[in-house]
Amino acid sequence: MKVLIAYGSTTGTTESISELIKQNMNHDVQIVNIREVKEEEIKAADTVLLGSSTWGYGELQDDFSDYIDLIDSSTYGGKNVAVFGAGDADGFADVFCEAVNIISEKLESAGANIVSEPLKVSGSPEDSLENIKTFAASI
Ligand SMILES: Cc1cc2nc3c(=O)[nH]c(=O)nc-3n(C[C@H](O)[C@H](O)[C@H](O)COP(=O)(O)O)c2cc1C
Repeated sequence: MKVLIAYGSTTGTTESISELIKQNMNHDVQIVNIREVKEEEIKAADTVLLGSSTWGYGELQDDFSDYIDLIDSSTYGGKNVAVFGAGDADGFADVFCEAVNIISEKLESAGANIVSEPLKVSGSPEDSLENIKTFAASI
C-alpha cells in the first residue's frame, strides 16, 4: 500500500512524529512537507496522513493554514485519510491539538474516508511512542 504523509511543522515535532509513523509501518511510505505536496502525489496514494501542530490559540500551523482550503472533494473525495499532530496538553488543555480537529472536519466535509482515530501527541514524540505505534498499525 502506498502511504503519503504530509505534515506542517514549525519546530520539527510534527516532522519527527511523521518519521516515527513511517518507521513503524510496513508500507511504501513517502513523507513530504505540506508546503511542497503536489496534488498528483495525493491522488497516487492509497492512504494520506495529514499532520499539523497547533499554534496561537487552537490554530493551524502556518504552512498548514496556507494549505487547508485546498482540501476539497476533487482531491480528497473518497480518499482514505487519517490525521495527526503535536500540541501541548498541559499549557493548552482547552484547545489541545485543535488543528487535528479542524483538519478532520475539513476532510469530512470533502467526503474523505477517515480510516483511523486521530493521533494527538503532547510533548516529546519519543514519550508517546506506544500511541504512535498504535496509530501506525491502525492504518
Ligand atoms: C506560542 C505557542 C502557541 C501554542 N498554541 C498551542 C495550542 O493552541 N494548542 C496546543 O495543543 N499546542 C499549542 N502549542 C504547542 C505546540 O503545538 C507544540 O510546541 C508542538 O510540539 C509544536 O510542533 P511543531 O514543531 O511540529 O510545529 C503552542 C506553542 C507555542 C510556543
